[in-house]
Amino acid sequence: MCGIVGILGRQPVASSIVEALRRLEYRGYDSAGLATLEDGRLTRVRASGKLHNLEEKLAAVRLTGEIGIGHTRWATHGRPTEINAHPHASDKLAVVHNGIIENFRELREELTAKGHVFATQTDSEAVAHLVTEAMRQGAGPAAAVAAALPRLRGAFALVFLFNAEPDLLIGARRGSPLAVGWGAAGVYLGSDALALAPFAHTIAYLEEGDQVIATRAHVVFHDAAGREVERRRQPLLAGSFLVDKGNFRHFMAKEIHEQPEVVGRTLAHYLDLAAGTVRLPFELSFDPKTLSRVTIAACGTAYYAGLTARYWLERLARLAVDIDVASEFRYREAPLPENGLTIVVSQSGETADTLASLRYAKQHGQHILGIVNVETSTIARESDTLALTLAGPEIGVASTKAFTCQLAVFACLAIALGRARGVLSEADEKRLVGELVTTPGLMADALNHEARLEPVAHDIARASSVLYVGRGVAYPLALEGALKLKELSYIHAEGYAAGELKHGPIALIDDNMPVIVLAPPDATLEKTISNLQEVAARGGHIIFIGSARAREAAAAELAGFVELPDIASAFAVIVYAVPVQLLAYHAAVFMGKDVDQPRNLAKSVTVE
Ligand code: M6R
Repeated sequence: MCGIVGILGRQPVASSIVEALRRLEYRGYDSAGLATLEDGRLTRVRASGKLHNLEEKLAAVRLTGEIGIGHTRWATHGRPTEINAHPHASDKLAVVHNGIIENFRELREELTAKGHVFATQTDSEAVAHLVTEAMRQGAGPAAAVAAALPRLRGAFALVFLFNAEPDLLIGARRGSPLAVGWGAAGVYLGSDALALAPFAHTIAYLEEGDQVIATRAHVVFHDAAGREVERRRQPLLAGSFLVDKGNFRHFMAKEIHEQPEVVGRTLAHYLDLAAGTVRLPFELSFDPKTLSRVTIAACGTAYYAGLTARYWLERLARLAVDIDVASEFRYREAPLPENGLTIVVSQSGETADTLASLRYAKQHGQHILGIVNVETSTIARESDTLALTLAGPEIGVASTKAFTCQLAVFACLAIALGRARGVLSEADEKRLVGELVTTPGLMADALNHEARLEPVAHDIARASSVLYVGRGVAYPLALEGALKLKELSYIHAEGYAAGELKHGPIALIDDNMPVIVLAPPDATLEKTISNLQEVAARGGHIIFIGSARAREAAAAELAGFVELPDIASAFAVIVYAVPVQLLAYHAAVFMGKDVDQPRNLAKSVTVE
C-alpha cells in the first residue's frame, strides 16, 4: 500500500514524479523517494516523513534525468527511515515496490551468501538484489526480471529502472495494482489512474501476473505465462481526477460536505426518481428469488457499511446474511451455499483482504457483487456485477463520503431485492424510495448546523477514552464513530450495541468518559433511551445525538446534545453519519492532528 510511479519522458522528470507522488500520498506517507538516470548514473534522493521533506531535499539538487521512478511508502518491514525509503538500488538498477515479499528473509540469506550487501531492513531490497544477481549471471534486464519474479512470494507491484538503459522501465504486478499511461510527453507507470491523470491521455491496467516492458516508442505486455498479450487501452479523463481542497482546510472537510451531492448522485444512478422506484443500473447475475444466502466481506468502514446493510437486507428483502471482516473471512474456510451471493464492499477496490475474499467466494461458486468507488480497480474488474458508488475520489484517509454512498447503494439494493423476491409491495417500494430521496437534503441540514457541534467535539477531545453506543442500524454507526475518532484523534474509543453495555462495559462509566448515544427515531429508540438511563444513573458523561423529541423522552442530564430533525425514514442512519464524522473531525482539528493523513495509516491497504 505504497504508491509507485515510473516515467519515460522527453524532459527532466523529477518534478512530474513528485506531482504523481503527491496524488499517491493517500497510499502511504512514511517516506518518499525517487531515482533518475543522470548521464548513465542512477541518482537517488530520499527522505523520511511526508513528501514535502523530499521536496525540500530536491530543491537543493538539480536533476536532469529524463527517466525515473518514485515511491511513497507505508512501512511494513523496517522503520520509516530515509535508509529504508525506496527506491532500493544496486550497482545495476533501482526498484520501487508496493506490497510485501513474504520470503524476503530466505532470499536475503541466499543473496548475502553470494556477496550481496543489504543496506536496509526492508523486504523490497531483496528484489533489487535478486534481479541484480540474474544480471550478474549474464541476463539482460527483461530476462533478469522474468527470472526473478517466480522466486517472489507475496503481493507486489514493481517498477525497475536500470542504470545502463536510458529508454527502459519494467513493471510487474502480482496482487497490487499497476497501470501504464500514454501521454504527449512520454510513457508512465503508476499505482493508479489518479497518479497518471495529469500526464496521460490513455491508460491500460496490468492484469494479475503481468509484466510490462516499456520504452518511449513501445509498450509490451506479457501475461503470467510469459506470453505477449494486449491490454485494453482506454481514455483517461484528467478532469475527473482533480485533487483539490476547494475552499476547505482539509480534504476530509470537503468530502464530508460533498455528501449531500454525491449521495444524491449515487441515488439518482440507482433510482427512477420520476417513478419513485429502484432501477438498478446493471443486470443481476443471479435470480433473487432463489438466492440462498448473502455473504458480505469488507474491511474497516466498508465493513460497517455492510453491517448496516445486514439489517436492511434481512428486514426488507428477508434474506439471510452472514458478514465478516475480510481478513478473517478469507481464512475461515466458510462453506458457501449453492446459489449464494457474496457482496464485497470497498472504496479503493484494491484492499488485499477484500480482494482475496472475493476470489475465495468466486472459487466456491458464489455470485459476486462488488460495491466499489474506483471503477477501474481490481475488485471492480473481478466482480460479476459492479455496483458503483459515485462518491468521486476520496483523498482523506478517513473514509466519509464513500461510506454514505455505500449505504445509499445498499439501501437501493435491499429495496430492489425485496421487490424481486416478492417481499415488498409496490407501495412499500414507493414509500421507502420516498424516504431515501429525502436523505441528501437532510444531510445538508445536518451540515448547516456544524458550528453548534464544535464545542461538543472539543469536549470529546479532552477525554482519553470514549464510548459510542447505538441499537439496530445505529450499532454499526457506533462502531464507525469509534473508528473515526480513533484514527483521527488517536483517542481510544469503542463502539457497543447499547444493549450490551450492561454485560460488562458499563463498569467503565464515570464522569470522565464521554458516552455518545446515537438515537435515530426507529423501533429501537425506546430501548436505547433505557440504556441511556442506565448510564445516567451511574453519573455518565452523556452526549446525545437525536431529535429534540427523543431528547425530551430521554429526560436525562446531558453533557452534550447534537440535534437532528425528526427523520421519518428507514434510512435515517445515513444522515446520522454526518454528525458522527464531524465530531471526530473537529475533535482532531482541535487537537492539532493531521486529519487528512493520520499517523500509521494509508488510504489503500493492498497488503494483508
Ligand atoms: O478501500 P476500502 O474501502 O476497501 O478500505 C477499507 C478500510 O481500509 C478503510 O475503510 C479504513 O478503515 C478507513 N481508514 C476508515 O476510515
